[in-house]
Amino acid sequence: MKRIVILISGRGSNMQAIVQRCAEQRWPARVAAVIANRPEAQGLAFAHEHGIATAVVDHKAHASREAFDAALAAAIDAHAPDLVVLAGFMRILGAAFVQRYQGRLLNIHPSLLPAFPGLHTHRRALAAGCKLVGATVHFVTPELDHGPIVLQSAVPVLQGDDEEALAARVLATEHVIYPQAVRWFVEDRLVIDEGLVRQRDGASQVLI
Ligand code: GAR
Repeated sequence: MKRIVILISGRGSNMQAIVQRCAEQRWPARVAAVIANRPEAQGLAFAHEHGIATAVVDHKAHASREAFDAALAAAIDAHAPDLVVLAGFMRILGAAFVQRYQGRLLNIHPSLLPAFPGLHTHRRALAAGCKLVGATVHFVTPELDHGPIVLQSAVPVLQGDDEEALAARVLATEHVIYPQAVRWFVEDRLVIDEGLVRQRDGASQVLI
């Protein structure tokens, strides 16, 4: 049984999707803990209601990034995870932290990486006149929103779309691809080879 720790900063809808699929599809895994960097993160209530251990490591209570990263790592390691999942975790993590969880740290970003790393992805995609946007699940490297890509969703931009409408359609696909990617990981179906991720069974790594 693999152990998953999920890090959130707010709503936690991707975390909820992973918790629900894990139970419904009987993955060989369980979500051991949900950890937030903000005490007011709404997702903590869902985790608590589902009997999942929760913790808060408040970035504001730490004087430096290194001190925050060390406290966060200690909170994570208390649950001895096989996999750490960043699900709307909006803090930049230092290289030492990323190195510690190398090959077992996943993130989701609401763009077709390597396009639009960072914030306001949908606004920037609309301003650039993109006709196709999406979301990316990737292994984390020290570079922000960068790393071996596991799965992407492609979402067409429709006439009249604004930032909110686009974000909502992309988010609906995040709730499909993130559980899928985590399931592949806990079922040992992912291979990282020279910075590229392959699905052992040859399953499609794109949702269109
Ligand atoms: C999601 O859209 C996720 O892709 C994005 O934050 C949102 C969190 O929603 N993550 C990033 O922008 C990370 N760079 P959620 O809390 O409801 O899962």
